[in-house]
Amino acid sequence: ELDVKVATLLQKMTLQEKVGQMAQITLDVITKGPDRFSSDEPVVLDEVAMKKAFGVYKLGSVLNTANNRARTPETWFRIISEIQNAGKGRLNIPVIYGIDAIHGATYTAGATMFPQQIGQAATRNRELLRKGAEITAYETRASGIPWNFSPVLDLGPDPRFPRIWETYGEDPYLTTQLGVQVIKGYEGDKNNISDPFHVASCLKHFLGYQVSISGKDRTPVSLSDQQLREYHLPAFKAAINAGAHTIMINSGLINGVPVHANFTLLTKLLREELGFKGLVVTDWGDIENLYSRDRVAKSNREAVMMAINAGIDMSMIAYQYEPFCDDLIALVKEGKVKQQRIDEAVTRILKLKYQLGLFETAVTNFKNYPKFGSKEFEQAAYQTAAESITLLKNTNNILPLKKDMKVLVTGPNANSMRTLNGGWTYSWQGEKVEEFAAKYNTIVEALQNKIGNNQVNFIPGVSYKMDGKYYEEYADQMKEALEAAKNADAIILCLGENSYTETPGNLSDLYLSDLQTEYAKQIAALGKPVILVLNEGRPRLISKFEASIPAILQTYLPGNFGGDALADILFGDVNPSGKLPYNYPKFPNSLVNYNHKPSESRSVVAGVYNYDADYNPQYEFGFGLSYTTFKYDNLKMSASKITANDVLTVSVDVTNTGSREGKEVVDLYLSDLYASVTPDIKRLKGFDKISLKPGETKTVSFQLGKNELSFVNQQNKNVVESGDFEIQIANLKTKFSVQ
Ligand code: IFM
Repeated sequence: ELDVKVATLLQKMTLQEKVGQMAQITLDVITKGPDRFSSDEPVVLDEVAMKKAFGVYKLGSVLNTANNRARTPETWFRIISEIQNAGKGRLNIPVIYGIDAIHGATYTAGATMFPQQIGQAATRNRELLRKGAEITAYETRASGIPWNFSPVLDLGPDPRFPRIWETYGEDPYLTTQLGVQVIKGYEGDKNNISDPFHVASCLKHFLGYQVSISGKDRTPVSLSDQQLREYHLPAFKAAINAGAHTIMINSGLINGVPVHANFTLLTKLLREELGFKGLVVTDWGDIENLYSRDRVAKSNREAVMMAINAGIDMSMIAYQYEPFCDDLIALVKEGKVKQQRIDEAVTRILKLKYQLGLFETAVTNFKNYPKFGSKEFEQAAYQTAAESITLLKNTNNILPLKKDMKVLVTGPNANSMRTLNGGWTYSWQGEKVEEFAAKYNTIVEALQNKIGNNQVNFIPGVSYKMDGKYYEEYADQMKEALEAAKNADAIILCLGENSYTETPGNLSDLYLSDLQTEYAKQIAALGKPVILVLNEGRPRLISKFEASIPAILQTYLPGNFGGDALADILFGDVNPSGKLPYNYPKFPNSLVNYNHKPSESRSVVAGVYNYDADYNPQYEFGFGLSYTTFKYDNLKMSASKITANDVLTVSVDVTNTGSREGKEVVDLYLSDLYASVTPDIKRLKGFDKISLKPGETKTVSFQLGKNELSFVNQQNKNVVESGDFEIQIANLKTKFSVQ
């Protein structure tokens, strides 16, 4: 029935109307007023610009916020109502609005802000992620927006890359498992996105983003088909099978070819092999980039031809919608883009608009969303933050602290909501977060609430500034803090990064800034109990002073409730349970992932040299301490020999041997011992999170079948080869063979 509706509508459309559906503009193209990006005036839509965009060019989609001004659900409601009125045209086709609500409805003040994806991954808690996505969908719809450019299913294996915090970390299995939960949360169990509490998800960035040679955003990637399929494809494949409705394309080059012009990836792989039926949208301005940046096209028109013929359905085209539409019409008339390709793209776009219920209800009314920003939602965000924070070091159990202690809180991240939230929060780079998140607690405020103002002394000490020349500027503040530290029972040193995303977050030195490093050394030298709180989008190297700090917590970017969750952990009201979703590196030239090849950790190869530069992360993927202790026993398998078609059941008993209740993540690692493509040392192939009271034991089971046992061979086929496998759960190991 839907197909008939869409086909009937399509028949009535002119080429101009069809091409208009394929163009998306950013909101500030149709707003007016002084300094669109920094003014605090309410958003005013520009009637002249709207007439041109919708009246003349018949555009079908808008994204983004005019940076700081569209904030409340009420403002969004007004903006989107006005756009729908202007945009519906003679055929009453609604406009589809898209946004980056990547850790909550991030452009709407009062929305519930969760930890960023990297912190969500550290929870290893599927249910929490699903619930978080449901809440984000609800609050995004409450803001009138039905399409969310989330989740990121790229792997984040490179800490140099400025968007690692937008990923679920370095592991394909973890990314796949969590990604699927988030799709269900956004789209609903049955992907029924027409109910106005769900949104269409957008998988990004297809495919092989975040692994550039230079470690910098949108710079060349070199990947074999085998690697692409072994590591990068599984999460996208699973999310497509879970019914995700849209996908966004990788902005970069793979093996010299821009992905936006790659027919093999966008049509052969995505459509023909994976069977993706939804909508493909470009990333920002990436059709123009084929000409102006990547130089595979000699003109804008040629760029449009390449991208649309490769399989792009919608162009997120920034300011260039006129040439895009004009060029595409000309290309169809010249026969360089087939009418059928246009019809196919527009069919997908119209279908999505129908599926979202936009033809009936183009704008949802925020008044129908009483749970927006509710306590119930906030509790879920708090819980996610609490389960994400990862205890990396706790020498002599100096944590938890006692509530009658006096603490000095210091460092650039101690009193900032911006650093707790990171990028894509209220604005692109996270500007203005302080203002909109003022009602939530920074780390300092949360500590004051926890143990009383009198016991908390706050002195910032230093800023993020990179260069040694700033020592002088901060000399007095550092002195003041070091002096005050003498009267404190413990020092909570909050270091890390300010918010950033995409290219502005590129970095030339992975070490924590000089100023912070120097400060950490001086604080540590006092010989007091120091708790280092890391609040950072990527693991910045701390090896220059780590050994002198007794306790370390990684908070990632924990969102609006990160300060409260941290205070509860520091003072023992919450037992930490987060686990690192990446290897925390120790040295700049040892950025090796946990699932590396044997030659990357030479000490495991019998009899060869043992270099300093052997595999030697500061903390390994999956690491995270608790205030209690767990014992693993009884690792059992349903058989010791199986065939490639069997499913092996593996179980293990976990006991809480300490005196506190705690949550434990149980990870199963699998090693294929010999294979026709050198196997990785080990791979995560199962995880579960359980809660145990003191003395309690639970049995955790995993199933290993084709999915877990197979790998991509030299012919790029998924195969299970016969041979021996080893299972590792905590300190226990066992072997089985596939015959
Ligand atoms: O969704 C984002 C993408 O991740 C990076 N470029 C811009 C898009 C839209 O804001």
